[in-house]
Amino acid sequence: MVSPLSHQLLLHIANEYGTPVYVYHAEKISEQFAKLQQAFSQTPTRFFYASKALTNINILKHIRSLGCHVDCSSINEVKLALHAGFEKENVLYTSNGIAFSEIEEAVSLGVNVNIDSLSNLEKFGNKYGHNYPVGIRLRPNIMAGGNLKISTGHEKSKFGIPIEQLDQILALVKATNLHIAGLHVHTGSEIRDVEVFMKVADIFYDLVPHFPEVRFLDLGGGFKVPYKEGEAGTDVPLLGQKVTEVMQKLSATYHRQFEAWFEPGKFIVSECGYFITEVNVLKQSGNTVFAGVNSGFNHLIRPMFYEAYHRIENISNLDAPKHPYTIVGNICETDTFATDRPLSEIREGDRLVFYNAGAYGFEMGSNYNSRYKPAQVLVIKGQAHLIGKRDVFEDLLRNQVIVL
Ligand code: LLP
Repeated sequence: MVSPLSHQLLLHIANEYGTPVYVYHAEKISEQFAKLQQAFSQTPTRFFYASKALTNINILKHIRSLGCHVDCSSINEVKLALHAGFEKENVLYTSNGIAFSEIEEAVSLGVNVNIDSLSNLEKFGNKYGHNYPVGIRLRPNIMAGGNLKISTGHEKSKFGIPIEQLDQILALVKATNLHIAGLHVHTGSEIRDVEVFMKVADIFYDLVPHFPEVRFLDLGGGFKVPYKEGEAGTDVPLLGQKVTEVMQKLSATYHRQFEAWFEPGKFIVSECGYFITEVNVLKQSGNTVFAGVNSGFNHLIRPMFYEAYHRIENISNLDAPKHPYTIVGNICETDTFATDRPLSEIREGDRLVFYNAGAYGFEMGSNYNSRYKPAQVLVIKGQAHLIGKRDVFEDLLRNQVIVL
């Protein structure tokens, strides 16, 4: 097992590159991918890293070097993936609500495409007919995922073609001679229960006879990783075992081979990431002690947006007794990372580390309040490398057109 980055190294990086800073650990990414490969070694499986979690080119290159493929939610992610060296056959484009022109562009780049609406499927059929194999994203009407904002498969969700519209899909496929190469379902993020994936597999099992050219069954991403200490993540070995059984059953029933496809984001990069901040201000208010850090939801939005829990440690004073602190940012509205969290005694100037910061941390950051986006550092074999510079003042003006 790969050890977490040491507090000493994190402090060294904070001194060297300043704070706030995102730090990623390459070997942890490798370890996560190896777990997936091992769990699915008995059935043909392709993993496409959901790059929306973290798109830094160095991260993409590292993930590519492991033999992992890449899933993209926008044409720009597709371009970043190609820029990072992924072969077009190993790039998957799974978007939603996009103009057909974006799909045309993806086709012109030669990547795998999943389509998420009848409207775009019809346009696709009319333009490409049988010439370009395509996947369809279905909405299975399954409620799953850590919270409603990250649940994507339920019956009120905007994602995918509702499964009850199967007849319309089939009519379209016939009318435009579409080559349906795959079926796709992504029910949400932070799905601990393996049975959710099995429900999707059951749906695929019933659908396959309608799509004689289907060769991949894409079960999306959404594997849960532990955020709290002692919390369980998705049992990936069990998932691997169950998916292997289903795939074998499918092959035996329909007399052909199917590939299982997955699009994990968090599972691959969440735990590799550390976000280091510095305490600017301590403020006592009744029983509450606020520790105000030099960051905010502009840098790590997950606590405010999803009420997500991120483990925090005061790495400047680890051995001190613990007291409850409310950790807040410096943004001009309520900006709470954690409430009454027991942490080693905090002094102004101490460094607080947020764990599980690799996925949807930097990536969902913004320049709100005209704050700079943090620097990013990648640790490879114990060596820290700057892979993203902290913004500078010019970045705030970069796209502004001065007319006055
Ligand atoms: N595939 C599709 C089509 C997706 O929409 C997503 C995530 C994934 C794969 C990867 O899911 P993952 O394995 O990372 O859970 N920003 C939220 C998570 C939302 C993810 C949206 N789509 C968060 O910070 O919790």
